[in-house]
Amino acid sequence: MAIPRDFINELVARIDIVDLIDAKVPLKKAGKNHSACCPFHSEKSPSFTVSRDKQFYHCFGCGAHGNVIDFVMEYDRLDFIDAIEDLAGQLGVEVPREQGSGPKRDEGLSRDLYQLMEEASLYFQNQLRQNNDKQKVLDYLTHRGLSNEVVEHFNIGFAPDGWDGLLSRYRQSPGAQDKLLTAGMVIENDNGKRYDRFRDRLMFPIRDRRGRVIGFGGRVLGDGTPKYLNSPETPIFHKGNELYGLYELKQKHRDAQKVLIVEGYMDVVALAQFGVDYAVASLGTSTTAEQFQLLLRSAKEVVCCYDGDRAGVEAAWRALETALPLLKPGNQVKFMFLPEGEDPDTMVRQVGKDVFESQVDEAQLLPEFLFETLAKQHGSDKGTLAKQAIKLIEKVQDTVLQSLLLENLAYKLGMNSAEELKKKLGFSAKEQAKPLQTKALKGRGTPLRLAIALLVQNPLLGEGLPEQPALKHLKMAGIDLLTLLLDITRKQVKNSAQLLEQFRGDNQLSTLKKLTQWDHQVADENLHFEFRKTLVWLNNQYIEQRYQELSLKQNHTKDERIQLTKLIAVIKGLK
Ligand code: UTP
Ligand code: MN
Repeated sequence: MAIPRDFINELVARIDIVDLIDAKVPLKKAGKNHSACCPFHSEKSPSFTVSRDKQFYHCFGCGAHGNVIDFVMEYDRLDFIDAIEDLAGQLGVEVPREQGSGPKRDEGLSRDLYQLMEEASLYFQNQLRQNNDKQKVLDYLTHRGLSNEVVEHFNIGFAPDGWDGLLSRYRQSPGAQDKLLTAGMVIENDNGKRYDRFRDRLMFPIRDRRGRVIGFGGRVLGDGTPKYLNSPETPIFHKGNELYGLYELKQKHRDAQKVLIVEGYMDVVALAQFGVDYAVASLGTSTTAEQFQLLLRSAKEVVCCYDGDRAGVEAAWRALETALPLLKPGNQVKFMFLPEGEDPDTMVRQVGKDVFESQVDEAQLLPEFLFETLAKQHGSDKGTLAKQAIKLIEKVQDTVLQSLLLENLAYKLGMNSAEELKKKLGFSAKEQAKPLQTKALKGRGTPLRLAIALLVQNPLLGEGLPEQPALKHLKMAGIDLLTLLLDITRKQVKNSAQLLEQFRGDNQLSTLKKLTQWDHQVADENLHFEFRKTLVWLNNQYIEQRYQELSLKQNHTKDERIQLTKLIAVIKGLK
């Protein structure tokens, strides 16, 4: 499935970033650069800039930055492969695939499957209008209270009763019938006889992020079993990677703040009908890591909604365990539980949008749900509770968040610090030994942004700090601001106000002001440690950059060798 590196390079070289972005976000020329209000966060004055020279965009407000591929990924919310497809499509070229190891996507096959699925979806929608049995379906829709608008918005259809309603449309084309089988729309029995998978069912098309129909869920029109029949796994449908309603949600909200994850197709549709148009459903499984990742990329707040019965709480707990390793500071994962016997569909019909949304607003934060559930299980046995909690907290990969959760736990147990807690329980203090993060975090939470924010909010962190020569040579958008701040705070700056005063009239002032408000989620007692960690990270970035430059050279001067040694010493000094 790999796409040749050269091809990607060529795409980046051939598509001009200013033209690409300008078509989606109109740009104004400002000096050498082009600028606009940032499409990735809301702002009143433009801090989003695009450089034709560098073929790069950067937002001084939220830290979003990247090249044409990053832009398409972020703006159109596509994954890497789809972004490449999209850009190649703009140039009218095919994406070549390397014959390498790993699962290959058969492009020819996929193309036709998408087309067939779209045709099937249109066929089902037509049957809703034309089939002889249509009245019973319309009655069922009325009985479920679904409006025409929402039926159309989600392209809901009807698969007629009978064995070959869909299949017989392709009588002239055995090739297409084979593909219907591959697409899971047709079943073949042991005698080689083929028939429609979906019969006499209400059909919910499932779309991928680009809006292509990749599968269906089909509901019986009454009490039969199985209640829902779903498309099987096919070359284009992997249910653990998809979310029902995500495409429809993104049509409504380019920049969703919140996503609600519910259990059923009907829930998504009913909520949308009542104006809660930011719900998605995992497809009959518990929410997978891939689905969570998708959700956390789509919005910073993810609310998981479950029935209040035992099964609901168990499902929520599984979701919590899946989410923990993926969490980053700034993400919010919440849990809400409906009264027993209700689901979002019945609930929103009873109480309406406003009351339902106020319940969403009151959803429990993940740490609360975690502690509360453990407390219920272990009652007064604080030792076991703490051990269980620590086991879960250790799944959190992000170190900042992990220490926050530990501190929170210590606080709840009436101890002074996470250290004391761990000592009491005999856990090794392995936190400190964590390797430095070497991969750049994207977007909002970059170490650079964290460094600047921490310094702007606590200028005393910079007092008396040794010079950081490496940072002055580091090639990274926004680094100049940090080195300037370090220079200023090294001397007699006591607080944010004094610091900001030095930027009066400077165009970076608004960025800095924003950062004074930014919730970096670092506890007071960890400020010093986390700030130093970001500096170590940045110094490391420089070493990497410099090392790459040097390793391209044939002969190194003595100075160059000494330089690397010195840089390593700087890092050691910081640790
Ligand atoms: P529910 O049983 O809660 O159904 O299943 P629902 O969505 O509320 O549907 P209505 O209101 O009874 O019509 C939740 C989800 O579990 C999957 C489907 O994705 C469904 O939306 N499911 C359920 C199946 O895949 N197969 C089934 O037989 C039942
Ligand atoms: Mn239901």
